[in-house]
Amino acid sequence: MSGNTTFTMIKPDAFEAGFTGAILQKFIENGFKIKALKLTQLRKEDAEAFYAVHSERPFFNSLVAFMSSGPIVAAVLEKENAVDNFRKLIGSTNPADAAEGTVRKLFAASIERNAVHGSDSDENAVIESGFFFTHFDRH
Ligand code: CMP
Repeated sequence: MSGNTTFTMIKPDAFEAGFTGAILQKFIENGFKIKALKLTQLRKEDAEAFYAVHSERPFFNSLVAFMSSGPIVAAVLEKENAVDNFRKLIGSTNPADAAEGTVRKLFAASIERNAVHGSDSDENAVIESGFFFTHFDRH
């Protein structure tokens, strides 16, 4: 059975561009409830840990530098079938491939600077939420 929460970050490109309000509005309009929300900034070692699964990829160092370059907004969102529904709402990793109306089509500049993160599984949603929020924060 699929879970009803997912984790997202509004990335430094979208925060810097002033898109935070419009992006959160999209989430809410599409039926996601905000269960936890935090403005913060990743240190280099935080970004390395968060994206450890990508540590062998050629884009890893650049991704870590980008993700630690400025403020991000982390959030836990709730909706039925949250992971899949949220990935549909944000669109393909590369905004050039993202469907019309998706968050990345509207707000992202490139495959790296792609405006938002969304968990890729229920298991990762739990792990990623725990990276930023305690159990208490989410209730
Ligand atoms: P995200 O959904 O946060 O998960 C991993 C991130 O790595 C991804 O979004 C992009 O920001 C980045 N990424 C994925 N593929 C590439 C790529 N081919 N080149 C550069 N960055 C990438």
